[in-house]
Formats: sequence, C-alpha cells, structure tokens
Amino acid sequence: MPTGRPRSIPRRAFLAGSGALLAATGMPGLARAAPREFRLRPGPAAARLVPAPHPDTAVWAYNGSVPGPEIRVRQGERLRIVVDNGLAEATTVHCHGIRLPNAMDGVPHLTQRPIGPGETFVYEFDAVDAGTFWYHPHQRSSEQVDRGLSGPLVIEEAEPPAVDRDLTWMLDDWRLLGDASISADFGNLHDAAMAGRIGNSVTVNGAVRDSFAVRAGERLRLRLVNAANARVFGLRFEGHEPVVVALDGQPVDPHVPADGRVVLGPAMRVDVILDMTGAPGARFRVVDDFYPRAAYRLLDLAYAAEVLRDRPPEAEVRLPANPIPEPDLASAQRHVVTFGGGGMMGGMMGGMNGRGMMGRMMGPGMHGGGIWTINGRAETGHTPAPMLTLARDRTHVLALANDTGFYHPIHLHGHSFRVISRNGVPTRRREWQDTVLLAPRERAEIAFVADNPGDWMFHCHILEHQEAGMTGVIRVA
Ligand code: C2O
Ligand code: CU
Repeated sequence: MPTGRPRSIPRRAFLAGSGALLAATGMPGLARAAPREFRLRPGPAAARLVPAPHPDTAVWAYNGSVPGPEIRVRQGERLRIVVDNGLAEATTVHCHGIRLPNAMDGVPHLTQRPIGPGETFVYEFDAVDAGTFWYHPHQRSSEQVDRGLSGPLVIEEAEPPAVDRDLTWMLDDWRLLGDASISADFGNLHDAAMAGRIGNSVTVNGAVRDSFAVRAGERLRLRLVNAANARVFGLRFEGHEPVVVALDGQPVDPHVPADGRVVLGPAMRVDVILDMTGAPGARFRVVDDFYPRAAYRLLDLAYAAEVLRDRPPEAEVRLPANPIPEPDLASAQRHVVTFGGGGMMGGMMGGMNGRGMMGRMMGPGMHGGGIWTINGRAETGHTPAPMLTLARDRTHVLALANDTGFYHPIHLHGHSFRVISRNGVPTRRREWQDTVLLAPRERAEIAFVADNPGDWMFHCHILEHQEAGMTGVIRVA
C-alpha cells in the first residue's frame, strides 16, 4: 500500500495564512500557497489480487497500482491533480466527498469534457475539509471503477490525533474467473436490476489477504473505504471494539456501533480507532457478515510476539469539526425524493412479459437504462435536466424514500449533509455524510445548506443502478 506522506509545507505557517478564511467562508477560493501536485495516469496494468499459484490479473489502474497512489495533504493546502489518460477510452477523475468548485468535480459532459485517450486534464482545488475521501472515474464508472480505477484521498487534520499508525484499508470486490481474470459480463441485466455487480473476491489494498500484523498495546486509526461497485460491508473485529470517529470523512461523536458492526455502503468511508488489546501471538478474525448467509473472513489480525506497550492509550479521540455551514431547519425548504423500480418488484414487473422487459431495458444505447427511477424518472446519462433547483445559501431538507426492495447508497456531489432522521425517528448523532445507505423501504431525511453553486450529480453509488436510471442532477443557483 502506498502511504507516501510528503510534508513540504510547514503546517503552522500555512494555516496562519488560510485558517481564518476557511473558517469564515467554508469554501475559500483564495489559498495562496503553491499547490501540492500529484500525477495520476490511468492505464492497463497487472495486479496480484489473489495469491500464487493464481496468475496476475489484468486490471486498469492509476500509476500501475491497485488501489491507486494515496493522495495525502493537510487541511488548508491546495491540491493539483494532473491526470494523463493512458486508457484506450475517455475518462475523468471525481474526488468523492470533497467539497470543491463545480468545474473540478470530474463529471463528464456536465462539468468538463471527458479526458480522451492521450489527453491531460488538471484538477485544482483547496482541501477545505479534513477527512478520508477517495477518487475514481465518473465515466462508464461501473466498468472503469470495477476494473481497478480508484484510490484513497486523505486530508489530514491540522493537529491529527495521536495514534501509533494511521492506515487506509481500501476494500474492493472483484468478480474473477478461474484464471483470476476479471469477468467481462459488465452491464448484464441481472446485476443492473438486482443488487448490482457483487464479486467473489474481496481485497484489502489490492490483495486477498490472510492476515494483518499488529502489536499488543498499539492504537490504530483505520480509514476504511468501500471502493466496491455494489457490495455493502458489515465488519466485525472479533475480540476488539472499533470506535467510530468519522463517517464519510466527517467527524462524529466517538462510539462503538450498537451491534459492534461497522457498516459501509458502496463509496462510504468510516474512520475507526482500533486498540490492540489482544495477547502477543494471538489471532482474531475480521468478519464481514453484512449478508449473513454469505459471511466470510476478511482477514485475521495477527499479533506479533513483540509487545508495543502494556495497554493502548486511554485518551478519547475526538476529531475537530470541519467548516461546514450548519443547516437551519426552521427555515428549510423541503423536497420529496422517491426511489423506485428494480427487479422482483411485484407492482412494477407484474403484467410485463419477459420480452417487453428486455425491449424496454435494452433499447438502443440504453445499457440497461430505465430499470430504476428517481421521482419517476429514469435517467442514464450525466446531463439530464435538473430534477431539483435549490436556492443557494438556503437550508434544504430532502425527504428520501426508498420504495424498492434493495439497498441504495445515495450520494450527493459537492456538499455534505446531515442525516437528521431515519424512518421518522430523529437520528441521535445527526451525522454528516455524503452517501446515505438506504435499506429496503427505508425513509431518511437529509439536511444541508446549498452553498456550493453548480450542477451536482445525485445518484445511487451502486454503479449498475446509477447507469440503469437511478441518477439525477441537482442544481444549486
Ligand atoms: Cu463517487 Cu458520483 O460518485
Ligand atoms: Cu441503488
């Protein structure tokens, strides 16, 4: 796992110049220091996803590695990402969860021209919020992301909490054939209409792993990123108590999840503080049992013989808040957003014969379009007419209703929102998210100040659902 942590800018000097501005506006456009530059070259590569004797897998990767290189800067710095397309097809880079200017959002046709093969595009923006984010293409993303194009983007707090190791685990899910090659059945109707493209091999930082080495007494900050197209993870750290300190990059009241399980829908991130309380030489399983009948062991935490210290530090870790404007619920404008469609939907599919369904789903250029809907509309591209136009700088509440029998991780670009209720019950932590996982038939209300002008994608992050209709544009003007 690449964990380069270049530190060229003395943090105090820099923050003295930009901290006040960040706090005052939340969305500064005026950072003065030179940007920190990173180069990404997406292209074909080979990766050792599964251990020998399996052969390497032909993937698409940033700079030849799966996941792509970790982009890591400090809050308040300016980032420049130079993308040089080595693929045989067009692409873009979307920095997921980052509040940035619309033109830097990486959505083909909507915010930029796609980057053609051999072309270069430069993204540049200020790292306004500290947290765990990630980057991936937004062009034909169900295939490009699935073939390996994604990487972590970490923005460090000005004063990061004291931990022994700050680690990122990119979780990904692959559909591999017997020869370890990626199954090329992209865009199939079953995936599009059901739970999305769920794979048969789960990797942590680009490899199926047996164990992860730890030392007794150590404190880890584990940045979990779900880079899978469709798989929801529900991780249990047997014998350990993961303390969740951030969701989707945004600080949350530190807590151990009610059932001990850390849940991440596609595209979501969870930062946990994991204290190593086991004995030297012990092994503990990390199990993913989100789908109980398909539970599996992700890997073991394997304790070294060596002990770091008697017991992990006891200080509570609480991350500093990011400069996100607080929604004013009293003056909020309310909008109802209903998600519909999908396979096995009695009402929708009854009365339709197989042929009719196929014709409707696989019409010319449709790529399975029209299976899922938002407010009754099934959009498949990146430039539909806006489904909502939100008055700028006002608070808006979106009342989300999942009228389907499937999970949907619903993602809004350019903003973070508070999840204020679920199924009519106010949430205890009012967590900030950029992707809210809706269970079948679930309702949730999200609230945010629409302070970032532009046209923003609003879609399901099960990428097969996105491409089959569950996508829209929200205009902030
Ligand atoms: Cu992670 Cu619209 O994307
Ligand atoms: Cu979905």
